[in-house]
Amino acid sequence: MTNILLCGGSGTRLCPISRTLMPKQFVKLFDNKSLFQLTVDRNSKVCDGQFIVSNTEQYFLAQDQLEENATFNIQDSSFLLEPVGRNTAPALALACMALDKDEVVLVTPSDHLIKDEAEYQKVIQKAKKLAQEDNLVTFGITPTFAETGFGYIEAEASNVKRFHEKPDLRTAEQYLQQNNLNAQHLASSTFLWNSGMFMFKAGVFLDELEKYSPEIYMACRSAFSKAVGEVKTSLPRSGNLIRIKHEDMIAIPEDSIEYAVMEKSTKVKVVPSDIGWSDVGSFDALSDECVGLSAKCYEEDSENNFYHNYNSDKIIATIGLKDFIVIDTVDVLLIAKKGETQKVKNIVNKIKHST
Ligand code: GDD
Ligand code: MG
Repeated sequence: MTNILLCGGSGTRLCPISRTLMPKQFVKLFDNKSLFQLTVDRNSKVCDGQFIVSNTEQYFLAQDQLEENATFNIQDSSFLLEPVGRNTAPALALACMALDKDEVVLVTPSDHLIKDEAEYQKVIQKAKKLAQEDNLVTFGITPTFAETGFGYIEAEASNVKRFHEKPDLRTAEQYLQQNNLNAQHLASSTFLWNSGMFMFKAGVFLDELEKYSPEIYMACRSAFSKAVGEVKTSLPRSGNLIRIKHEDMIAIPEDSIEYAVMEKSTKVKVVPSDIGWSDVGSFDALSDECVGLSAKCYEEDSENNFYHNYNSDKIIATIGLKDFIVIDTVDVLLIAKKGETQKVKNIVNKIKHST
């Protein structure tokens, strides 16, 4: 089984720590390890090799971080480099085109945290069985609030009735109400968050993509064959580098795997996954996960705050501060009320427009 590791996003929700050239997955937030390094560690225990799909700009950063890991053999990894990102459907299609059609792939983002690794390994084994039976397997997380930035999986046992990417708030709230009814045995289906991880045979995914989003499929086929030449060989496990040409990449329509395939396919299954998952998508989520992580700080009449400095060693001092998040970097100081850090992206837009 090959791990396709997606790392193309820039993660503006963790700005100022995470920037275009230092996206969230590469920032060393956890015991001097990045989420990317933790993901590689975790997945090398369940997969035979890593196939990293990333932006060309992040190639050296990713390689450096792989090499830093003493237990990991860089020869176990191959890269597919995109000059520009076209979202996850093309990224996955290009990677799957390099693999044998019967190869089972575990697709994972590289910027999530999974705390229960023992349970993760069990869940992976369950998913593998379903993937070998030609299904597109998703990993479902029990929702705790009406998040509108996630996909929702309407499930009955492992069967998926419907996949709904990023619903509006009212719809997400209805899904959570439905879960309450389900807990009282008044409704038969439950709604789970899509974790953003998938498992399938490379060829099954490509067939479904060709069926439901043929323009993406065709453009990827053409871009892939121009990158590797006309002779189609399966990717040997390790040490490969595929570079997609800029003009071919921009010709690929942009779309996510959720909209391009998951909302349409009838082959979607789900494995409920109680694995201590977090997408660390905001400073609120980060502060929930990093109990011990803080800057050097002195507090007076202050409580329940989260402090972090990144590439800055300033002492932080607070008086009378409660429920705040303070992030200090060399050039930006962010001070936010807890519970409101999703609004970081609004600030990023303001900064972008003013500079
Ligand atoms: N190589 C590559 N190229 N990777 C990409 C690209 C691209 O063009 N675009 C996104 N990625 C990577 C991101 O770096 C991330 O690791 C992963 O693919 C998912 O992309 P996001 O942009 O983070 O998606 P999202 O957070 O809006 O939604 C996804 O994740 C949610 C859970 O965190 C979806 O899968 C949702 O359904 C899901 O609930
Ligand atoms: Mg995400």
